[in-house]
Amino acid sequence: MEVRVGQEREDEGVAPSVMLEGVRWCDVLLSLLTEPVDRALLAANPALRGVANCAVGFNNIDVAGATALGLPVSNTPDVLTDTTADLTWALLLAAARRIPEAQEYMKAGRYKLWGPNLLLGADVSPGGSGRRKVLGVVGFGRIGAAVARRAIGFDMDVIAYDPHARAQIDASGIARWAELDDLLERSDFVTLHPLLTRETHHLINERTLKRMKPTAILVNVSRGPVVDEAALVRALQERWIAGAALDVFEHEPAMAEGLRECENAVLVPHIASASADTRDKMATMAAENALAHLHGKRAPNAVNAEVYSSDAYRARISRFPTER
Ligand code: DGY
Repeated sequence: MEVRVGQEREDEGVAPSVMLEGVRWCDVLLSLLTEPVDRALLAANPALRGVANCAVGFNNIDVAGATALGLPVSNTPDVLTDTTADLTWALLLAAARRIPEAQEYMKAGRYKLWGPNLLLGADVSPGGSGRRKVLGVVGFGRIGAAVARRAIGFDMDVIAYDPHARAQIDASGIARWAELDDLLERSDFVTLHPLLTRETHHLINERTLKRMKPTAILVNVSRGPVVDEAALVRALQERWIAGAALDVFEHEPAMAEGLRECENAVLVPHIASASADTRDKMATMAAENALAHLHGKRAPNAVNAEVYSSDAYRARISRFPTER
């Protein structure tokens, strides 16, 4: 088997022309979330057998287009759930307790004298207020639910909104269902975990940000375009909300103008699943899915499993040589 790597530099994605050339050459495409894989690209090779995305999110791939062409697409679910939920909490706590600001203060040698008002933050547990804080979880899939479970340790009230998982929320025993506007109005912390779809694009925008409490903190580890980033910058500058912690950005790796200057924003470069063990497992899963695509077998993590019973898939595999 021959493996070709399209990416030449760690700080540069794969150029569209290199992607096209690579797709024409290969039997299976193993993609990262940084590579847009559209229908035209997939159609460039009638002998392609599948796409293995090394990520749980697959919004970079035109899955409907792939299905229409008879191509299975796979992802790497489950293995990164805990790692991503952990980072969500790291970000939430960092924003609430102003850890990055405190670190900068220390590293700049500004700590001269302890004071009772130095770098005051917000409690996540009831703390001094004695009031249970409200965590609003938007998107109650595997990661949203794992984030909600961790809130038990902080004695929080958890409410959740996900139009596709109302039954799961009701059955969770951890979270109670809330409509989106109600969730935004009641939450001290709002954490975003939906898939990026047409429905969730800019779900958080000027209108919805203005429904949040001025003391609330927004956390996004899902996909950048779920948030209208320009509106968020205004919300942070004008204190419609108290803070935000972001792992993902609308036009990643770029940031909306003004975001980096907001001292009430905690910003990290899409590292939610970046533990050594989890990234290792994701790579192995993506390789296993790729091998299944290559051998014309059902991929363990196909996101469009319906493709296997389609005429388009049957027509495609009938073109595979039997022995490779
Ligand atoms: C994914 O797998 O979709 C994550 O965003 C990677 O960190």
